[in-house]
Amino acid sequence: MQAARLECVQCGASFSAQEELYECEECGDGIRVIVDMQGLSYEYLRPRWRERPFRLWRYRELLPVTGEEVSLDEGGTPLVQVRFLRDFAEDVRFFAKNEGLNPTGSFKDRGMTVGVTRAKNLGRTRVICASTGNTSASLAAYASRAGMECIVLVPSGGIAKGKLAQALFNGARVIALDGTFDDAMGNILEVAEALDAYVLNSINPYRLEGQKTAAFEVWEQLGHDVPDWLICPVGNGGNMAAYWKGFEELFRLGAVGRLPRLVGVQADGASPIADAILREEDEIVPVDDPKTVASAIRIGNPANWRKTMRAIRESDGLALKVPDAEILRAQSLLAREEGLFVEPASAASIAGALRLAKEGLFRPGERVVCVCTGHGLKDPDAVLESFPDIPPVEPTVEAIVAAAQGEP
Ligand code: F0G
Repeated sequence: MQAARLECVQCGASFSAQEELYECEECGDGIRVIVDMQGLSYEYLRPRWRERPFRLWRYRELLPVTGEEVSLDEGGTPLVQVRFLRDFAEDVRFFAKNEGLNPTGSFKDRGMTVGVTRAKNLGRTRVICASTGNTSASLAAYASRAGMECIVLVPSGGIAKGKLAQALFNGARVIALDGTFDDAMGNILEVAEALDAYVLNSINPYRLEGQKTAAFEVWEQLGHDVPDWLICPVGNGGNMAAYWKGFEELFRLGAVGRLPRLVGVQADGASPIADAILREEDEIVPVDDPKTVASAIRIGNPANWRKTMRAIRESDGLALKVPDAEILRAQSLLAREEGLFVEPASAASIAGALRLAKEGLFRPGERVVCVCTGHGLKDPDAVLESFPDIPPVEPTVEAIVAAAQGEP
């Protein structure tokens, strides 16, 4: 379908859907797409959604693009019970939305299938993004699919190897900056203009349109209801805002009568949004040299901070920051107890859930969804560092049995 219009998230200024806008021409803030819901009711959509596969494009009536989509069959990711968290909160059910099972191993694919389809609608042939890794891997894949040229800006040395390999192998031109992700992001609009490239960072409102479908899926997976709490790792703040937009649209359609409370989790060394919320301030103070083992969310000056802060506050939610040690512990517990291998940034939501469960925040009967944003194979280095080298063993039955019975 076609977007009705674009709107500034801050001052409410309205713009035509035909414009290619990343920030408000009036006040400089973020832009969102207002989807035309005229004539769309839950009664109308429900049978149509039901007859399509459980994938992202099932919800096409609410996706503001036209023509054949650029797709790798994304979405439809599992919602898996996380049982070990129940030990810390009686009668509370915890789930992980396993977004690492998207085609390139992260939730970014939701945004890219819609964003690159939008680029195609506009007749663009060159796309660009700044990235801590997953965005670049995803954009590179979807650009290949669409036959477009792809340029990605990443922090030199600051990107996990799996993600870099994906971007390179999918044929992107990778530019490694002697600086942070924030330096890359700070230059992206001017660089894109100079190169006549279409920007597919989450300041592009069409990206978030794709990402909002994860909220639709969670609602379906919980038996057409929203969770009581949705916990999400926060970097630039796009994804949390996208979930909120998705839940709000379901509410507007009359598909659900309530909204979840949102929890944004940041890493201790990169927590400008959590800090502002915890201090009850209206503006963030950017962090100059963000530090965390969770490289995906190593962001000091998040582009979508306003959208995310508004979403958390409107939902009567909260924000917290967790140290790296808690992130790594949550990553390890999730893998050992549940068989789910997620990257460190993804485990931030589990670390947040664990902390809040121990603090007694959740009430009996509640359902809590933790968004696990990316696959563990993206960043094996972070994991392998915590294990000693494995000494080689003689290839004989005796030696193998002895090694298997030794200390794990
Ligand atoms: N989790 C993972 C695995 C990510 O890659 C990101 C963001 C986030 C969480 C945070 O999402 O920015 O919407 O708040 N990664 C971006 C990238 C910045 O370039 O791949 P957000």
